[in-house]
Amino acid sequence: MEFQTHTGTSPEKAAVWLHKGETTAIPTETVYGLAANALDAEAVVKIFSVKNRPTFDPLIVHIKSIEAMDDYADDIPDEARLLANTFWPGPLTLLLKKKNNIPDLVTSGLDTVGLRMPAHPLTLQLLHLLDFPLAAPSANPFGYISPTTAEHVHDQLGGKIPYILDGGPCRVGIESTIAGFEYGHCTVYREGGITTEQLEAALGKPVTVKRTAVPHPVTPGMLESHYAPRTPMYVGDVEALARDFQYKLVGIISFQKEYTLPNTECIVLSTSGNLEEAAMHLFAAMRELDGGHADVILAEHMPDAGLGRAINDRLRRASVKI
Ligand code: TXA
Ligand code: MG
Repeated sequence: MEFQTHTGTSPEKAAVWLHKGETTAIPTETVYGLAANALDAEAVVKIFSVKNRPTFDPLIVHIKSIEAMDDYADDIPDEARLLANTFWPGPLTLLLKKKNNIPDLVTSGLDTVGLRMPAHPLTLQLLHLLDFPLAAPSANPFGYISPTTAEHVHDQLGGKIPYILDGGPCRVGIESTIAGFEYGHCTVYREGGITTEQLEAALGKPVTVKRTAVPHPVTPGMLESHYAPRTPMYVGDVEALARDFQYKLVGIISFQKEYTLPNTECIVLSTSGNLEEAAMHLFAAMRELDGGHADVILAEHMPDAGLGRAINDRLRRASVKI
């Protein structure tokens, strides 16, 4: 379906399209989402066609309040409630046993549903205008970098969706943390905006992180190659890599240090060495270098703690394996 894509700041306009069973891009604190009525399989299927996404990939359901958990999930463990109360609205998705009102298409036939209450005022306003929650993956074509501005969404999905709700640049900049409960034990499947340390502090005990790719990933966010720019990208010691490769133009993504090597364009994620700021700028930096003339992108590892681990995970998945 072809649309003239409008961008604006009106939750009411977004609600009109969503009520008609169409998709709309929505801002969240993590990345922009491509939303549709989560209770209407005919609307949800449009998300997959707009994104070119394989239908085996389940979608996160965005809800308007903590209480709304009980409308879509059963047998909610106390620890899940504790995490929701601590971190919602915020960048944490909880995998819970799904109720029957969630179509199988949303969960790809799994018996769990990923629920999250996003922390963005416009999207919360929008959710309050609707009598259904919003299924929304990141608003990028499948496998490509997640969008962190309305303009990124327009660049990739313009003409395919009727409306982009513009909430400005995303504050967190990387996707939500995905956590579930295996035999009552909290397990992280995707590291994201809420750090493992924060979860452990809230629960008062260790959590397990399972991020290694398996042949049938529990969450396709675990696919090895994901969030990838089209320009080949390598992660490591950028000075050594730049010397070894001797490309015509090298794009560099650095944490804190400005590299002034010949034939390089360097984007520094945070001159003050702040991981939150680095996360916020990461995807826009990848996108900018991917859209320029660099024939390779070199990125350096972030410190391996807190949000640095979630950023390193995105870098690893975006890069060519060597
Ligand atoms: O921050 C975010 O989480 C953003 C914003 C828009 O909320 N959304 C996002 O969605 O990153 P997406 O679809 O790009 O990534 C969600 C990941 C996918 O890897 C999906 O497989 C996994 O969550 N997922 C969703 N529901 C699941 C379920 N029931 N069981 C296992 N994995 C699930
Ligand atoms: Mg995604």
